[in-house]
Amino acid sequence: MQKTKVALVGMGTVGTGVAKLLLDHGDRTARHAGCILWLEQVVVSEVAKHRDVELPKGLLSSDLTRITGDPNIKVVAHLVGGVEPARTIMLKLLESGKDVVTANKALLAEHGPEIFDRARELGRSIAFDACVAGGIPIITNISQCFSANQILSLQGILNGTTNFLVSQMEELGASYADALKEAQRLGYAEADPTMDVSGADAAQKLAILAHLAFGARVHWKEIPCEGVEKLDAADIRYARELGYRIKLIAAANLHDSGLELHVSPTLVRIGKPLAEVRQAYNAISVVGDAVGPVFFHGLGAGQMPTASAVVADMIDTAVGRTQITFRTLELWSQREALVSLLDHGELSGRYYLRFTVEDKPGVLAEIAGVLGRHSISIASLIQHEPSGDDGARVVPLVVMTYHAREGAAAVAVAEIDRLKVVKAASVRMRVLD
Ligand code: NDP
Ligand code: HSE
Repeated sequence: MQKTKVALVGMGTVGTGVAKLLLDHGDRTARHAGCILWLEQVVVSEVAKHRDVELPKGLLSSDLTRITGDPNIKVVAHLVGGVEPARTIMLKLLESGKDVVTANKALLAEHGPEIFDRARELGRSIAFDACVAGGIPIITNISQCFSANQILSLQGILNGTTNFLVSQMEELGASYADALKEAQRLGYAEADPTMDVSGADAAQKLAILAHLAFGARVHWKEIPCEGVEKLDAADIRYARELGYRIKLIAAANLHDSGLELHVSPTLVRIGKPLAEVRQAYNAISVVGDAVGPVFFHGLGAGQMPTASAVVADMIDTAVGRTQITFRTLELWSQREALVSLLDHGELSGRYYLRFTVEDKPGVLAEIAGVLGRHSISIASLIQHEPSGDDGARVVPLVVMTYHAREGAAAVAVAEIDRLKVVKAASVRMRVLD
């Protein structure tokens, strides 16, 4: 059987999984590619580091020219994280005639237009299914399988680390810090885990999906984004009491007037499939005007699920499928945006609010008054009696609202936080019923 020579740049969590699949399951990849994907070179940063995979002698180096200088290497998996030197490495690979597969969404979200233009100029291709939702083939589905549809909405859990973290807090009562450490140990988190917990990683993925599904030309930093850094175990408990679970939801909804995009911790009603997504799993609920609702669920981070997506892209590239779709999709081209972003303040939603207030007469009336003045109607309310006899006169007051304008909810909560009877910053989260 013919050999197609391939290489890896980066052999950390994901690259190790890719090397394992190529070396241990060459028969499987050959069956699908019609040729052997022959691992010719692996380039990393520190050659001396311990590796969890045994490579044939002479494969490993820190010299990129061993790939760029070898015209027989056709396909390269680019598995270095962050923006630099990942961007420079990507450009060098394209300029030396390689078709590239990448898992680096931060790079595409930051420099997609430059990199895709350069690939097109050079007649090269880039495959990137591993960039969003790890093992779930969402990029291929959105860009190819649903191409007869106008996508109407996407609601997703796109970050495995934060879903793992919230699940550990909810199910095991783990502390935020311990749960994050465990996610890092398991290889889910980015090199800089702030990208995960701040929601930035999910926003980068949402920007890529919005580009593919709606023709939006949005930089991820334009997407209103909140992470889970301030998530309090008390909110997880109140959410449960109200019949919800808290999830970091990345949402895109198409309206007649434009596209709604945001990433935020959200109370998802128990019983909705998204509420049942646990641990490092990701899920995406898509609605297309022809296909209707479709739900994807799978591991969104980790070595083998991500490697599964990378190797599938390497096979598609070796076969020549990627090159065809890459040409026709015109990704990140200079084409005009097909849709504009809606003003965030004008969006409508239901909200969960938690106020920390003095336990004395008139407080509830004061808070309800502010909400009422901003046309925010209360749907339900919880206030438990203070526990124990510690004389604590500060209690949490939890409010679920009916639909309200985002802008009005933000202004009302800011106004309530200035009241004398309010003793700590209030919490406001979206609700998904
Ligand atoms: P790791 O940090 O585990 O691995 C990064 C690799 O890049 C290492 O092998 C490192 O070398 C190598 N590297 C760094 N700088 C250079 C350089 N200048 N030249 C050559 N090699 C270099 O990252 P992951 O495997 O976790 O992630 C890789 C990419 O995949 C990231 O973009 C990430 O966002 C994405 N991703 C990760 C997922 C996951 O679950 N981990 C899931 C989906 C996507 P060395 O080993 O010597 O340090
Ligand atoms: N850090 C990312 C996550 C990896 O936790 O989802 C997958 O993109």
